[in-house]
Amino acid sequence: MHIVKTVSELRDAVRAWRSSGQSVALVPTMGNLHAGHLALVNEAKKRADRVVVSIFVNPTQFGVGEDFETYPRTEHEDQQKLNATGADLLFQPAVSDVYTPDAKTLVSVTGLSEWYCGASRPGHFDGVATIVCKLFNMVQPDVALFGLKDFQQLTVIRTMVRDLNIPVEIVGVATVREESGLAMSSRNGYLTSEEKTIAAKLYQSLCAAREAVLEGGQSYQEIERKALQFLQESGFQPDYFVVCRASDLKKADENDKELVLLVAAKLGKTRLIDNVCFSRNPPQSPFGKGGSRRQGDLNAKS
Ligand code: PAJ
Repeated sequence: MHIVKTVSELRDAVRAWRSSGQSVALVPTMGNLHAGHLALVNEAKKRADRVVVSIFVNPTQFGVGEDFETYPRTEHEDQQKLNATGADLLFQPAVSDVYTPDAKTLVSVTGLSEWYCGASRPGHFDGVATIVCKLFNMVQPDVALFGLKDFQQLTVIRTMVRDLNIPVEIVGVATVREESGLAMSSRNGYLTSEEKTIAAKLYQSLCAAREAVLEGGQSYQEIERKALQFLQESGFQPDYFVVCRASDLKKADENDKELVLLVAAKLGKTRLIDNVCFSRNPPQSPFGKGGSRRQGDLNAKS
C-alpha cells in the first residue's frame, strides 16, 4: 500500500490510475480503524479498481471541550490493517496541508445540520461537510463509502452531493456490531467494561422500538417516550430518540414507509449514537407483520 501525506502526491497517484482507465473509490476516516471501517474498504474494493483511504482527525468537526486532542491516534496499527485488507493508497495529511490558516469557505447543509446531533454539537456537520467536500475535490473519486452507523452524517453528505452536483456515487454500508449488538465505534474505547455491558442496551432500545412501530397501536411519540425512559433507567443520559423518515430525517408520520430510528445518549463521559432503518408495510412482507428489518440497502445513487 502506497502512503502519501500531501495533496500533490495524492493527485499524482490518482492521475496515473485514471490515465490507465481505472476507477477510484474513497473511504474517508479519522483512523483508529476497526471492523466497521474495514467493511467500508472491502465494499469499496468491489465497486472500484483502486481504493483510497483517508485518515484525518478533522479539527473543524470537534466542538470546544470535545475530544479532538485525545481522539485515539493509532497510525501504525491502522496502516497494518489497511495493508492486510488490500487498500491501494492511504492519504494521511497534516492539518496544515488540509486547512490554510486564512480559509474562508465553509460547506453548510442548512436545516438538517442543526437537528439531532447537530443540536448538541453546533457546527459539527459543517465541519464534516467541509472536510468531505474537500476530500472529494482532492481525490475526485467515482464512488465514496460511508457507514449507515452515522446515519445523519450520511444524509448530510448525500444532500451536499445532490445540492452541489458533485459527480460521485455515495454508498451507505451496514453497521458492523459487536456480538452484544453494540455498534463498533472508535469511541467505544473510552467505555469501562461495566459501561460496555450497559452500552449494548442502546441497540436493544432501537430493536424494541422497531418492534413497537411494526406492531402498530402506539403513537410514535409514545414509542419515543418509552425508549427514552428505558435508556434513563439503564443508566444513560439520553440526548434524543426519534422516529424519522429515512429520506430526509424529518419526524415520521403514519404515511411514511421508509423509517429510521435515531438515538444518541451519554454513558458516563462517552457519547454514543446508533440507529436502525427499516420499511413499514411493504407490499409483501416475508415476516407476516407490517414490515421488514433491514440494514444496508438504502444505497440509492445521489
Ligand atoms: P470515522 O468515525 O472514523 O468513521 C469513518 C467511516 O466509518 C464513516 O463513514 C462511519 O460511518 C463508518 N463507520 C464507523 N463505525 C462503523 C460501524 N460500526 N459500521 C460501519 N461503518 C462504520 O465519520 C467519520 O470518521 C468522519 O466524520 C469523516 C466522515 C471521516 C469526516 O471527517
